[in-house]
Amino acid sequence: MIPVILCGGTGSRLWPLSREAYPKQFLPLAGSETMLQATALRLDGLAQLQAPILVCNEEHRFAAAEQLQEIGRAAQSILLEPCARNTAPAIALAALAALEGGEDPLLLVLPADHAVADVAAFRAAVTRAADLAAQGNLVTFGIVPTRAETGYGYIRRGEQLEEGSWKVAQFVEKPDAVTAESYLASGDYSWNSGMFLFRASRYIEELGHHRADILDACRNAYAGAARDLDFTRMDADAFAACADESVDYAVMENTESAAVVPMDAGWSDVGSWSALWELAERDGDDNLLHGDVLAEDSEGCLVRADNRLVGLLGVRDLVVVDTDDAVLIADKQRVQEVKKLVQRLKHSE
Ligand code: GDD
Ligand code: MG
Repeated sequence: MIPVILCGGTGSRLWPLSREAYPKQFLPLAGSETMLQATALRLDGLAQLQAPILVCNEEHRFAAAEQLQEIGRAAQSILLEPCARNTAPAIALAALAALEGGEDPLLLVLPADHAVADVAAFRAAVTRAADLAAQGNLVTFGIVPTRAETGYGYIRRGEQLEEGSWKVAQFVEKPDAVTAESYLASGDYSWNSGMFLFRASRYIEELGHHRADILDACRNAYAGAARDLDFTRMDADAFAACADESVDYAVMENTESAAVVPMDAGWSDVGSWSALWELAERDGDDNLLHGDVLAEDSEGCLVRADNRLVGLLGVRDLVVVDTDDAVLIADKQRVQEVKKLVQRLKHSE
């Protein structure tokens, strides 16, 4: 089994800590390790595991390599994307690299920016999924939904395959709010965790079947790649010609071979400041305070003061993030919209 760690996202909802130069997967957001390091360490104890393949933007190659080195790990290869084309192409590149050795390994696809509280439960779910994946299924990991989140994929269970695993009857990526509400109320759906397990060849087959254009562009980009030590840099023109699409839309919504294994592992995708606040341990006033912070009669706040003292007085449910060159002050209920600020910033550059 080869872990494929996807670390090419931008994490713009965690601005101003998460930046283009250092997106959230390279930051220690939910503990002392960075999210990439935590992702790599979580694998310890899984059977028959090879060194991971990392897929990231070429700008982040040194951060990615150094962060693994810091924890005594090394990737078997680091695949570099000259531009972001989302997860369907990123996984295709990893599958092409994995198949080069002449074998057809299982790929455990892992976003580099998730938190998992119960690592043993994570490993148990992966272990349960391995047989199904070896048989040709594209295995997803289902999370019990707790709200009508529109930023996730939803999975409806079909017939049972083995104990603790089901065929996927329906996969719907990022439904609108009304649909998400009805899925939640029905009780028939789980969230897609964004982790997958399948044979490299099966992903290539399914991608070729449903999005031959993406597979062709990835084959071209990989064939023209330049190699330098552990780094494999895709051909820039060929990769730029690839469609921008996620694995969820390109493959998971369309394949007939998807299976789901439940994962009850304290999973969070740490997608926003409020998600971080929810999953962390807070003080008696429900505040999550990091750095030099004085809080008086204030509740439910998240503060990161990396540079100087921050004082709170008589406020509720605020997010305050102080960095070298930017300060965010936001209503904790509205932090999904932080990316609006980032978009405005980009347009004004
Ligand atoms: N290498 C690479 N290149 N990685 C990428 C790229 C890219 O162009 N785009 C995103 N990634 C990485 C991100 O860093 C993240 O680790 C992972 O791929 C998933 O991408 P997101 O952009 O975070 O996806 P999402 O959160 O909107 O949706 C996915 O995850 C949800 C759970 O968190 C989907 O799989 C949903 O169905 C799922 O519910
Ligand atoms: Mg995500």
